[in-house]
Amino acid sequence: MIVISAASGALGRLVVDNLRARTEVVAVVRDLGRAPEGVPARHGDYDDPASLRAAFDGASRLLLISSPELDPSRKTRQHLAAVAAAEAVGVGAIAFTSFLGAGTVATGMTEAYHATEQAILDSGLPYTMLRHPFYSDAFVPRISGGELTGSTGGRGLNTAFRSDLAEAAANVLVGEGHLGRAYDFTGPLWSHPEVAAALGVTYREVPDTGPGPMSWINGLVRAGALEQQTPDLERVLGRPAETVVSRLLGRRTP
Ligand SMILES: NC(=O)c1ccc[n+]([C@@H]2O[C@H](COP(=O)([O-])OP(=O)(O)OC[C@H]3O[C@@H](n4cnc5c(N)ncnc54)[C@H](OP(=O)(O)O)[C@@H]3O)[C@@H](O)[C@H]2O)c1
Repeated sequence: MIVISAASGALGRLVVDNLRARTEVVAVVRDLGRAPEGVPARHGDYDDPASLRAAFDGASRLLLISSPELDPSRKTRQHLAAVAAAEAVGVGAIAFTSFLGAGTVATGMTEAYHATEQAILDSGLPYTMLRHPFYSDAFVPRISGGELTGSTGGRGLNTAFRSDLAEAAANVLVGEGHLGRAYDFTGPLWSHPEVAAALGVTYREVPDTGPGPMSWINGLVRAGALEQQTPDLERVLGRPAETVVSRLLGRRTP
């Protein structure tokens, strides 16, 4: 039995959709009214350790989907409660949706992810770290009036779509040979000027709209911080990951 935590979220639903025809899957949600349809659901709240023990009981594999909590201390506490519950009930293996860099960087954006990876290693449970890049879904550029704008300085982005990351997670959960490994998942490198050229529109660099998460991420992109590439996602998928250009061509209105 494969148990998916935070299964009511966008990523969790995609993982459940991918797995339901392949194996026995249980969705763990903090609100049973938001559970994905068609699979058994259990209540499990990262702020309620007892609920997590009951929710994870009997799992041959657990996918621990990271909490959306922004405060690193609380996020760490939630994840560590989940790892402790997994250890207490003896799940067969744990896969964790971590973040790129979390293996080595214990501060800033990856603080909670690093602490969680360490707790998983300390637990002695068989594990797979699924280190995610930023999700492409939030970065697909808008085209308006025959032009594409961006504030990324033309540098590369290694984002990947949730749908591919969900399929990769599902492959790890039902597959063999993934235990004791950390995957650094990156999507096909893309840039705003390249996407504009592929779509036959002009590219115009525009100033950031101001402080906020996107502006912060644009700064990271301009510094080249999202240009790391690995073959891990393509290997686990067994095919190339979806590109931003193909998503845009699929969605573009005439
Ligand atoms: N790499 C990236 O670019 C990126 C972007 C966004 C998020 N993330 C991370 O990836 C995770 C999955 O992404 P997503 O797109 O699926 O996020 P999402 O759609 O916001 O889903 C978040 C999930 O976490 C659940 N949750 C919130 N608080 C919880 C708690 N106390 N106990 C148990 N579950 C709780 C939510 O439950 P409800 O349905 O009850 O609210 C929901 O199922 C996020 O939580 C976040 O850590 C990564």
